[in-house]
Amino acid sequence: MIKTITCIGAGYVGGPTMAVMALKNPGIKFHIVDINQARIDAWMSDDLPIYEPGLDEVVKQTRGKNLFFSTDVAGAIKEGNMIFISVNTPTKKYGVGKGRAADLKFVELCARQIAQFAEEDKIVVEKSTLPVRTAQSIKKILSSTSNGHSFQVLSNPEFLAEGTAIDDLMKPDRVLIGGDQNEKGQKAISELVNVYSSWVPRENIITTNIWSSELSKLTANAFLAQRISSVNAISALCEATGADVEEVAYAIGTDSRIGPKFLKSSVGFGGSCFQKDILNLVYLCEFFGLHEVARYWEQVVSMNDYQKTRFASKIITTLFNTVSGKKIAFLGWAFKKDTNDTRESAAIYVADQLMNDEADISVYDPQVEEARMYKDMEELETRTMDRNKKQLSMTEDPYEACKDAHAIAVLTEWDEFKDLDWQRIYANMKKPAFLFDGRLILDRKALSDIGFEVYTIGKG
Ligand code: NAD
Ligand code: UGA
Repeated sequence: MIKTITCIGAGYVGGPTMAVMALKNPGIKFHIVDINQARIDAWMSDDLPIYEPGLDEVVKQTRGKNLFFSTDVAGAIKEGNMIFISVNTPTKKYGVGKGRAADLKFVELCARQIAQFAEEDKIVVEKSTLPVRTAQSIKKILSSTSNGHSFQVLSNPEFLAEGTAIDDLMKPDRVLIGGDQNEKGQKAISELVNVYSSWVPRENIITTNIWSSELSKLTANAFLAQRISSVNAISALCEATGADVEEVAYAIGTDSRIGPKFLKSSVGFGGSCFQKDILNLVYLCEFFGLHEVARYWEQVVSMNDYQKTRFASKIITTLFNTVSGKKIAFLGWAFKKDTNDTRESAAIYVADQLMNDEADISVYDPQVEEARMYKDMEELETRTMDRNKKQLSMTEDPYEACKDAHAIAVLTEWDEFKDLDWQRIYANMKKPAFLFDGRLILDRKALSDIGFEVYTIGKG
């Protein structure tokens, strides 16, 4: 019987996931721990560390009742009957597998800490996205470093998307749980099934062997990203031929075998996971000698890079082949709307390319902080911070960002951009006033009528 659940990692997944579980399981205590004190402090304040619609409400209803945050990793491991590992698994930046393999050092450390501090048998749940067969390494660390306690390792990947995390958690298409195909494994699976069953219909909880579960997560992200790269590849052809990518997406999406979702062309997918998980899949394929399979999936990432470069190049060529000394306004910096997350956002790469061509960029985003934007640029290591600060700035007012600009680029699909006073923006821009919609959110005809020279991704 599970009385306390511990979650290591209070990030975009750990925080919302445990908050919803706590709401739906008032009889279980949830303890989320993180090594990042500032993040934990924010979780305990009114200003949560992540912006996610509906999250404040869920946290308000549970925090201090059956949901607790702290940095006491050892204490939380001791008290949890079930321990979720929800730490980051970024792409490795060094050594073997650099630029492709997942860096599992944070996961390994969690396993070592669990083995060190556990004072009884535990169920350990992989919530982080991991390469297939990671459970084997976790089991090995647990069994060889623990003090005689036994551990069951489950895989329970998370499928939430940022910006809709609370809805996704409240009504998941499915929950996936993988475990060992023996009596102890099945018992552990049923404990976790019970936790989810308090709000997820049993038929939506899929149980599999552990390797299938691990691999399904990477596969799901690869398939989703592949759809975006496919429609983005077609967007280039639309522009060349006079077809309209929205019309094409609608026409193919009405085929029930294809379906309408995830066919929105864009300046390129961003976010912390699609690229990382595909590169991880590519690395795994290579590791197992499946080179053709690796090349197949790698192309999804290459097409995404092409789309970002294509968008930036379009801006430069349209602005008479140079943006040197010209002000370009960016509407949006987050990788998608309704989040303050900027990891791998297309905006970063488009900005970098334009700044290489000496543009001055002024950014407005309703949720992203200036310091975050500079950190994103710093991590690219393309130029000095001084240079970044000279060429890139952020303002809290979209009209200020667009004032005296030669061009506007829409990089994130925030709803509020549709309601801006576009007449006013046009009046205060340099002429000709160019507008590059990389998100298919603006009314091209209405803006052209105002006087803008409009480029919309995928429209010839
Ligand atoms: P994140 O970076 O927002 O959060 C991870 C947290 O783990 C950080 O706060 C970090 O300080 C903490 N941490 C790292 N090592 C620790 C340790 N040893 N002890 C305690 N805390 C530690 O990452 P995230 O976006 O929440 O992603 C977590 C995992 O979930 C990744 O594997 C990711 O691929 C996967 N995932 C993410 C999403 C998403 O939408 N972000 C969705 C599904 C799956
Ligand atoms: C994605 C998946 O959708 C989740 O199921 C998964 O759990 C998560 O990755 C993860 O493993 O981290 P997320 O990255 O948060 O979620 O957001 P998405 O809605 O998938 O969008 C990803 C990127 O693709 C964004 O930049 C978005 O703008 C772009 N996108 C999405 C498109 O360009 N077109 C589309 O049709 C859909």
